[in-house]
Amino acid sequence: MNGAGCGSCHSAPGVWPEGEVGPSLDSFAQQTLIAGRLPNRADILADYVRNAPKYVPQSGMPAMPLTEEEARDVAAYLYTLGRR
Ligand code: HEC
Repeated sequence: MNGAGCGSCHSAPGVWPEGEVGPSLDSFAQQTLIAGRLPNRADILADYVRNAPKYVPQSGMPAMPLTEEEARDVAAYLYTLGRR
């Protein structure tokens, strides 16, 4: 997640730098929505982190240069955050 530059805008445990442009991802697993409007499902999340503007054109989250596999890894990682 760090290598892809997510940390310049987001904070998440163990990710540096701690960005503050985007929302904190500290308890992402407990959210029911992605970006306040998309159902928080693994397939949608994996596509969202690669191509956020497709879903929320006016948001500050840019399209990220991830492969499909990397995006799935990122999604799996996000679901470990704040899981109870
Ligand atoms: C240029 C800054 C920037 C970068 C780089 C960035 N994001 Fe974001 N991200 C944002 C912003 C701003 C939002 C809020 C979007 C919205 O609410 O419409 C967001 C939203 C999100 C969300 C939804 C959060 C929520 O609470 O629903 C996730 C998940 C996410 N980003 C993951 C990532 C991942 C993973 C990466 C790296 C592959 C990344 N972001 C890179 C700025 C960024």
